[in-house]
Amino acid sequence: MNELDSLVESAQQLFAQAHTPADLENAKAQFLGKSGKMTELMKGMAQLSVEEKKSRGAAINVAKQAIEAALTARRKALADAELQAHLKAEVLDVTLPGRRRGSGGLHPVSITMERIEGIFGSMGFDVAEGPEIESDWFNFTALNTPEDHPARSMHDTFYVEGGTQHAPNLLRTHTSPMQVRHAVQHVKRYRNLIDAGQTMPEIRVIAPGRTYRVDSDATHSPMFHQCEGLWIGENVSFKDLKVVFTDFCKTFFEQDDLVLRFRPSFFPFTEPSAEIDIQFQSGPLAGRWLEVSGAGQVHPNVVRNMGLDPEKYIGFAFGMGPDRLTMLRYGVNDLRLFFDGDIRFLSQFQS
Ligand code: DAH
Repeated sequence: MNELDSLVESAQQLFAQAHTPADLENAKAQFLGKSGKMTELMKGMAQLSVEEKKSRGAAINVAKQAIEAALTARRKALADAELQAHLKAEVLDVTLPGRRRGSGGLHPVSITMERIEGIFGSMGFDVAEGPEIESDWFNFTALNTPEDHPARSMHDTFYVEGGTQHAPNLLRTHTSPMQVRHAVQHVKRYRNLIDAGQTMPEIRVIAPGRTYRVDSDATHSPMFHQCEGLWIGENVSFKDLKVVFTDFCKTFFEQDDLVLRFRPSFFPFTEPSAEIDIQFQSGPLAGRWLEVSGAGQVHPNVVRNMGLDPEKYIGFAFGMGPDRLTMLRYGVNDLRLFFDGDIRFLSQFQS
């Protein structure tokens, strides 16, 4: 093997050992660079005769081309290897099924609220919302529950800043304050009519929302929901309450043979007052009396606080617990599950 052949061979070997583009460029410099071996050979031709230059030059050129070819081949091989490594690292299986975005759903209590609003809406009830931070006046006093009234102790709650020492602001303990809040607005709107001795349109409203008490066990949560109902007119009687509430319960639970019981009770803001119990005739809860709402004929003092004459206007109110209705409808036995936020529990409910 002559000197040129072995030079080509050693270049090929060195290129083959280069595993990165940078190594390869360094190897190249040893042969084709400014002071590389091939360049040295070219310089060495200066002393040769014209004839010798011709044949020597041609041989050197052949060797140089062979080295350049080896370099190009190795460059391509390294680039290919790099591309393959990339493709392998970023492998993408386009046949895999796409990842579905889970679709959200309503909270079971929200589903109940929507059902309540829909059913009462179909009976001509408006929906009103009010503040969760309530004044002592609306939460208690306006509802015929003065400062020293014993019924207040059943409504232990969270007091917040604002208000006065004797009438602090608080997190409302029930939705009943919405009775007076809503009625006052209604009366204001129809003041001229009322003053002229004419009849104002009836107040027919429900007020759903969050309520708060210092209470926590399997059936009580410090935050819970209530839905208030109020119907005031010139001729609204207990009979109307019975019809409306019976209709509501049968529709809500989708059970026509549901039986209701109005059990005498006491609330400061109604007289007479009742607890409403229901009884399913079939299913796991059949035969038991289950309390679902407080209710009663609105107390004359409350009617007066609404800005109306209790001799002329009369009506009924009720306050029920949507959380409890939800538990009964779905057979849930621990209220706290609704507020733990565990998606495995919550995702079981469809409207
Ligand atoms: N506010 C009462 C409570 O939280 C429930 C209630 C009872 C509401 C009788 C009413 C009613 O409107 O008439 O316990």
